[in-house]
Amino acid sequence: MILNAIGLNYALEAAVADLVDNSIDAGASNVLVRFIRRGPRLVSLCIVDDGRGMNEDQLRAAMALGKRRDYGPNDLGHFGLGLKAASLGQARSLTVISRAADSRPCGMRWSKDNVGQDFMCDVVDQDYAEMLLSRPWLQVELGRGTVVRLDGVMDFPGALDAEIANSYLEHVVPRLRNHLGLVFHRLIAKKAVSITIDQEEAEIGATGLLQQVTPIDPFAYQTSGRPDYPRTLPVRLDSGTVELRCHMWPPRSQLAAFKIPYSDSSHQGQGFYFYRHDRLLQAGGWNGVVHPERSLQLARVAVDVDERLEGHLTMNPEKTRIQASAAFIQAVESAGSETFDLRTFCEDSIRRFKEARRRAGTRRRVVPPGRGFAPEVRRSIGEELKFVEGSEPIHIRWYDFEDDTFLEVDLEERTIWLNRQYRSAVTGDRGTSLNDAPLLKAALYLLLNDLFSGEFLGAREKDDVKLWGAVLAAAARVEAQ
Ligand SMILES: Nc1ncnc2c1ncn2[C@@H]1O[C@H](COP(=O)(O)OP(=O)(O)OP(=O)(O)O)[C@@H](O)[C@H]1O
Ligand SMILES: [Mg+2]
Repeated sequence: MILNAIGLNYALEAAVADLVDNSIDAGASNVLVRFIRRGPRLVSLCIVDDGRGMNEDQLRAAMALGKRRDYGPNDLGHFGLGLKAASLGQARSLTVISRAADSRPCGMRWSKDNVGQDFMCDVVDQDYAEMLLSRPWLQVELGRGTVVRLDGVMDFPGALDAEIANSYLEHVVPRLRNHLGLVFHRLIAKKAVSITIDQEEAEIGATGLLQQVTPIDPFAYQTSGRPDYPRTLPVRLDSGTVELRCHMWPPRSQLAAFKIPYSDSSHQGQGFYFYRHDRLLQAGGWNGVVHPERSLQLARVAVDVDERLEGHLTMNPEKTRIQASAAFIQAVESAGSETFDLRTFCEDSIRRFKEARRRAGTRRRVVPPGRGFAPEVRRSIGEELKFVEGSEPIHIRWYDFEDDTFLEVDLEERTIWLNRQYRSAVTGDRGTSLNDAPLLKAALYLLLNDLFSGEFLGAREKDDVKLWGAVLAAAARVEAQ
């Protein structure tokens, strides 16, 4: 049956984004994404909104496949599929409970039939609908609104183990937060909607870990890579003109908006960002217009897609990608004037990137970081500096010292030893892992790097280490107070 096949292309975060689209279309001011767990097990995922809700007839239409309604000029919906496809691609059952102004709560459910493999659509008992709607969801009373509840989510860990559930959430919640922050960054920033993520322990009814989704704007650099950017490139198509807004990031930015963990690492965030009604449909990638390469990573292009371009720029049903027509690609290639076209933009971006690399090349070479440093720290060091050819990396480790010295430099073991008695002062109550205390370790790496390029420590270096150790120990004691 078709329901078994649709929705298979969704990642969990894209599916949630599709459900949030519906909430926004329903005029919701608040959307809550809630993970519900029962002891050691994650049981369901709910998307709750305070939008206009649905009455029974509207809900019946909403649960139908491919039933397109009349869309308003700013609506995010388009296919009449998202609710069903996004949910059933992720879960064994989808329950929608809703209440419109002046009507009774109603509910319907699509679920995978226990007997066969097919999905069935049922009407949900009115009392259950009422009960689910009146649960403590958003801070405000849900006089009207909608609860979309997914059960049997395939992505959830199957094991009955609280630790596994915890680490799943530790991984998936930030991922979801990043994704929603990126996709809806314009809408959140202009306060069209507020999105939060939280968790509920169903047995005791407690909720916690409320996380606000904050906007991640992929164009929010502080200063442009070059003062004459961004520049606009008009692309003429038979149905109208699209404007490509060409931005150049400054090199080596450490801003989260530059380093968005793009699911597709082949383009590292370079390329097109297509928006439709202020919702991001594609985050990076060149759609066959330009070949992605490392030195193009500063180049990003914002494009607003509207109905006129439907024949040229088509979104996939998951709303994560745009398919560009051959005519569009050709029009982009031939767009522009003698002073500015896409090729100029790419060349300028590459030149800016390479220039910054060359400057990094004149910096003194360092000994590379080894074990004990967080991967992000290692990556940033690798981007900023070149390494001394053939040098053994520096490790940084905690160790039980016999006295209260803060650190020791061990050239033979290529290790900076840190006294474990200061560990909790440094890491606070954030727990400990091999790569903990990234700030302290990065600072010590930069401070002590020179020592590791020599063969032995002279009296002067030994005294420096002693001095730094004494000051750091004093600081750690203050931290622990
Ligand atoms: N949270 C909600 N609040 C109110 N109405 C909703 C909600 N979710 C869905 N609906 C109704 O159900 C209909 C179907 O939703 P669905 O996501 O399947 O399709 P769509 O939004 O119309 O198009 P698309 O496939 O592009 O998402 C919507 O058009 C809307 O009328
Ligand atoms: Mg939809």
